[in-house]
Amino acid sequence: MAFIDWKSDFSVGHADLDHDHLRLSQIINRLYDAVEFDQGNAVVGATLSSLRRYVETHFAREERLLTLCGVPDAVEHVRSHRRIEATLEDFENLHSHSPAELDGVALLEFLRKWLINHVLRDDMQYREYFEILKKQSRVGDELRYN
Ligand SMILES: [Fe+2]
Ligand SMILES: [Fe+2]
Repeated sequence: MAFIDWKSDFSVGHADLDHDHLRLSQIINRLYDAVEFDQGNAVVGATLSSLRRYVETHFAREERLLTLCGVPDAVEHVRSHRRIEATLEDFENLHSHSPAELDGVALLEFLRKWLINHVLRDDMQYREYFEILKKQSRVGDELRYN
C-alpha cells in the first residue's frame, strides 16, 4: 500500500483540483520512497523541490477558482496556503544546507497529515461552490459550441 492511498471520496468536486491533490499525494509518495529506500540526498532534495513548486502551482489555481466562485471569507484559508509554502521552503533550505538535520520520517508524517487536512477539512468546505462552478462552465461550453 502506498504511503498516501488516494481515495475517490477525497474529491472536492472539481476535476482540476482533484488532479492536483492526486499529483501532490504522488510526489509525497515519491519522497517517501526516496527517504525509506535511502535513495540519497540529491533525490530527496529534487523531490522536495518539485513538491514545493507543485504546491505553489496548486494554490495559485485553487485561489483563482475561489475568487471565481465568489467564496466569502477565504482569507484564513489563503493565509494557511502561505504558511505551508513558507514551511516547505524552510524544509527545502534545511535539507540543502544540512541534510543530516532533516528528520525524514517526521517530515513525511507532517506532509501526510497536512495533505489530508488540506483536502478533507480545508478544501472540502468549498465543495458546493466548486460544483456550482463546474455546472456553470458546462453551461458556458454548451452555449459556446451550439
Ligand atoms: Fe487544495
Ligand atoms: Fe486549499
